[in-house]
Amino acid sequence: MIVKPYSPNLGAVITGLDLSKSISEIQFKFIEDAFHKFQVLFFQEQVEISPQNQIKLGKYFGELHIHPAAPKMNNYPEIFEIHTHKDSKISNGAEDFHSDVSCDTEPPLGTMLQLHILPEYGGDTMFANMYMAYEALSDKMKFFLNELYSYHESEHFYKGRYEGENEVNKQYPSAIHPIVRTHPVTKKKALYVNKFFTTRIQGLNIEESKLILNYLFQHCEKTDFQIRYRWNKNDMAFWDNRCTLHKAIWDYHPMERKGRRVTIKGTIPY
Ligand code: SIN
Repeated sequence: MIVKPYSPNLGAVITGLDLSKSISEIQFKFIEDAFHKFQVLFFQEQVEISPQNQIKLGKYFGELHIHPAAPKMNNYPEIFEIHTHKDSKISNGAEDFHSDVSCDTEPPLGTMLQLHILPEYGGDTMFANMYMAYEALSDKMKFFLNELYSYHESEHFYKGRYEGENEVNKQYPSAIHPIVRTHPVTKKKALYVNKFFTTRIQGLNIEESKLILNYLFQHCEKTDFQIRYRWNKNDMAFWDNRCTLHKAIWDYHPMERKGRRVTIKGTIPY
């Protein structure tokens, strides 16, 4: 197995490991260490992994999370199919920077996405390092934010987004999380807000909350903290939702882009 940093900011490419086969304890430890060090891993030179094997792979890293709104793959509720094509009106729900399902009380630790069909060009995914975003703030701003919590809500985002969802009596998750979270493994601090789900800062009035959140959204999106990944067919990306944001660029319509993802359950942010 070979691991090569993708950029100084974050990310690493792993080759020499076939994810469609069982992984050994040593390989698991290697991946886990690289995941915590690089925050997002790109496994290249892969074959298409079956839904069963993708579920099995995800389960090495923890119990799987079930998406609260996206349609489930037949017989595999753990799989979220990513599919955009000529008739798609909006992207797969990732067209701006976010951390997956941060509206859950225990948001997913990480996401594993393999893409099987790619547009001829375009359809890259951006990732941003939220440790760096936190570190770049002044000490006074860090001190101010360290005490704050924000609301992460989902009805405004999920309602009507996914075709085929029956929305009658649907419960949309919401949660309150610290604006600065501590990664449970690395113990490093990361900013934890995103445009999709973070709606308000607890304890501030609406105007103050809007102002600070807009500032933080802009700050988190500084190119200094980012990478842009160009996919190869069957690459598998594995990102840490606790310390990164990501955005799938919706620039390839009417071309097709298709894959499957699983998410691994996380813990309550602190
Ligand atoms: C996602 O947020 O899971 C989708 C990312 C992508 O389509 O690149």
